[in-house]
Amino acid sequence: MSTLLSLRHVHAYYGAAHILHDLSLQVNAGERVALIGRNGVGKTTVVNTVLGIAQMKGGELWLGADQLARPRPYHAAQHGIAVVPQGRRIVANLTVEENLLLGGAVGRKGPWTVSEIYKLFPILQERAHTPGTALSGGQQQMLAVGRALMTNPDLLLLDEPTEGLAPVIVDQLADIFNHVAEQGTALLLIEQNMNLVVRVAYRYLAMAKGTVVNQGEVSNTQQSLEDLQSHVVI
Ligand SMILES: Nc1ncnc2c1ncn2[C@@H]1O[C@H](COP(=O)(O)OP(=O)(O)OP(=O)(O)O)[C@@H](O)[C@H]1O
Ligand SMILES: [Mg+2]
Repeated sequence: MSTLLSLRHVHAYYGAAHILHDLSLQVNAGERVALIGRNGVGKTTVVNTVLGIAQMKGGELWLGADQLARPRPYHAAQHGIAVVPQGRRIVANLTVEENLLLGGAVGRKGPWTVSEIYKLFPILQERAHTPGTALSGGQQQMLAVGRALMTNPDLLLLDEPTEGLAPVIVDQLADIFNHVAEQGTALLLIEQNMNLVVRVAYRYLAMAKGTVVNQGEVSNTQQSLEDLQSHVVI
């Protein structure tokens, strides 16, 4: 099975602040992996290391078959890795449709087009010509997911995609993530909502203090839910 993303013994920093310590993780084609852990353990820093926003000073980063010593944000997109960032970051003065087309600008071929995204999220079609930031929080998250899918990724990195959203929207997004995974896109789902994790992921990695301290399988069962919650209790 091909490896889409691999961090091997990575150390990462913001300036002098040493955040990731000897962290290793790997996501293979078609996998559904959850990355869990309490606030501040370094989950977003994993994403920022892949994008080159946090500075990697030791270890190895592999995107597919390529090892990158100095990653830049466009490298991920070129290697079929799309990011839905924490906090969504919709471009303010673009419409919904323009935000989607921005994702398509990477130019990778694949099944996802504006009309396929509209089938997935009909509300985005209804609001196609409104400014992206005029949408509700849930709709902005749908737009962020749609924009990432427009790059036709092999791997989708989702950084706390349901943070602050109503349960009904979380349910909708869970169905969408499962649908996307069934189409063959691998998922790395950063989440604190373990109900969502058991519905979507098949494997988990638990972080503490900037490294992976636990890992195992996930199933959609009460036992699995309790196991996961034990890794994130405050
Ligand atoms: N730009 C930055 N400069 C310096 N330190 C930072 C920066 N961004 C984050 N940190 C610190 O790095 C550590 C890890 O932060 P990170 O955002 O990766 O955590 P997280 O697991 O994603 O947390 P959350 O669940 O709250 O999103 C924290 O101690 C945080 O204060
Ligand atoms: Mg975070």
